[in-house]
Amino acid sequence: MSDSSTSTGTLSPDPAHMPLHVAIIMDGNGRWAQKRGWERMRGHQKGVDAVRRTVQGCMDYGVRYLTLYAFSTENWKRSTAEVSGLMLLLKTTLKAELESFHKNSIRLKVIGRRDRLPQDLVALIEEAEIKTKDNTALTLVVALDYGGRDEIARAVSNLAQDVLAGRMACGDIGEASIARYLDTVEVPDPDLVIRTSDVVRVSNFLLWQAAYSEFVFMDVCWPDFSKEHFLQALLSYQGRERRFGHDKAQDVPHG
Ligand code: IPE
Ligand code: IPE
Ligand code: MG
Repeated sequence: MSDSSTSTGTLSPDPAHMPLHVAIIMDGNGRWAQKRGWERMRGHQKGVDAVRRTVQGCMDYGVRYLTLYAFSTENWKRSTAEVSGLMLLLKTTLKAELESFHKNSIRLKVIGRRDRLPQDLVALIEEAEIKTKDNTALTLVVALDYGGRDEIARAVSNLAQDVLAGRMACGDIGEASIARYLDTVEVPDPDLVIRTSDVVRVSNFLLWQAAYSEFVFMDVCWPDFSKEHFLQALLSYQGRERRFGHDKAQDVPHG
């Protein structure tokens, strides 16, 4: 989708065909700031407002799972100042939003590695996950120090350990059993993946899970992503014919 300025007017998404799970590659924070002659961190800070708008959009439209790509396994390659600025922003945002997430029945789940994150951030994540574990309105999955390849490599390593220990037989290894070793266990595959900032690539996001996702690429930097953009992406998704390899459209059983 290249014309992100198109107005959707009074259109609204069909509640009977909502994606169960929307995943977003929140890209373009740095460029948004740099275009204005500002530090890249200002783009990341402004991006938090777009996260709030999108979470609210999910609650309003009835999307049950939202995954946000917040920091990739490759993002450690950025400057020390940006990496530590991002870690601090993640910590302060999580602290500031936790009560409101909980009040709104939002369950928080963080996927990715934890062994390289600052200890205080890991402690906060654990506290938030425990506090919100029984919430049911929306599951907010945050992908943090996440990479699809790293996730699959960790899954294979854990699976191999279980085979060695006799807890699993080689003959039992299949798609369903592999999926149980991924960080996204108990999260349905994303129906819709949105990437902002007009960049058309996957950047190591949900490589296994997005096998049959619909993709919407939007020409808007993440800090400017509005409820209207979200609606456009949902409408684009609802106009797609999903086939999953069949020769005609398939109904997606979503509740
Ligand atoms: C996405 O925005 C946020 C993170 C990767 C943490 P970028 O920081 O990648 O912004 P651009 O792509 O440089 O504009
Ligand atoms: C992907 O964006 C990671 C996040 C949005 C967190 P990047 O900006 O890191 O991706 P590349 O480097 O442009 O592919
Ligand atoms: Mg980027």
